[in-house]
Amino acid sequence: WAIYAPYVAAINKLKKERNAVILAHNYMTPEIYHGIADVVGDSLQLAIEATKVQADVIVQCGVHFMAETSKILNPSKTVLIPDMEAGCSLAESITAEGIAQMRAKYPGAPVVTYVNTTAEVKAASDICCTSSNAVQIVRGLDADTVIMTPDKYLAQNIANLVPEKNIVWWDGACIVHEQYTAQDLKDFREWNPGTRIIAHPECPPDVVAEADFSGSTSGIIDYVTQQRPEKAMLVTECSMASNISDALPDVDFVGPCNMCPYMKKITLEKVLWSLHTMEGAVEVDPEVADKARVAVQRMIDLSA
Ligand code: 13P
Ligand code: SF4
Repeated sequence: WAIYAPYVAAINKLKKERNAVILAHNYMTPEIYHGIADVVGDSLQLAIEATKVQADVIVQCGVHFMAETSKILNPSKTVLIPDMEAGCSLAESITAEGIAQMRAKYPGAPVVTYVNTTAEVKAASDICCTSSNAVQIVRGLDADTVIMTPDKYLAQNIANLVPEKNIVWWDGACIVHEQYTAQDLKDFREWNPGTRIIAHPECPPDVVAEADFSGSTSGIIDYVTQQRPEKAMLVTECSMASNISDALPDVDFVGPCNMCPYMKKITLEKVLWSLHTMEGAVEVDPEVADKARVAVQRMIDLSA
């Protein structure tokens, strides 16, 4: 921690001078999560928090689509992303043209789009979802066939939970979660009996089936905090266990994890630089933002 202390102090000072707040995703490194974040959470929680920000500046410690979502929901604020290259394999997997193709293939079916997408893709969709509210959103739609984009695994996992709907999907995947296999989990359980296995729903369905629980990043934190298993394997991004392990000394976090190269682009140095220079402001075309806001706001209203 000593090597981070000067950055943490400088950022926290500059944050006051700029009247800024830092919204940080659960996948940020511990020095960001514990050292400088004003709010931490999953994608839905961060989107809701963005609507409430009164400060002039939001520094989004997360990936680009999260910063865009904050800008869409609170357009008068300056929203900074400390590294413009902090992308997402899901957001890169689809464009608005892809949404149009799905609509042509399944006429009349509503499009539910994961928040891990660009503003243009959200603008072309009917409603957004996150991994914490997807079941609720899909169940709440008055339609037999529902298009889910762009995460095929999230869509397949939701299809298993909402069998009454015919869910069709786009062919996108998260490069972090698609790497896990059901065999990895089976082997791990055999070698480490008693381990509670907890998987994010961006994992393939056979991986989720092998797990004891599946939920969004905040769902995972809540589950481990409440259940206090002796040993827990978090089948998700590596920083999750690092961020919560201090508060849960009785839980032994075991097993392999995968790193998100996009999330890891956000560092203390880059946060300091963006607050110092005010570079990295995210802009969204106002017309696109207006349409995207409808899809995101519908999601927030339905998740309340
Ligand atoms: P949640 O935090 O909404 O579970 O999303 C995980 C994720 O991959 C964000 O990029
Ligand atoms: Fe995208 Fe996966 Fe990284 Fe989340 S973890 S930002 S879904 S690539």
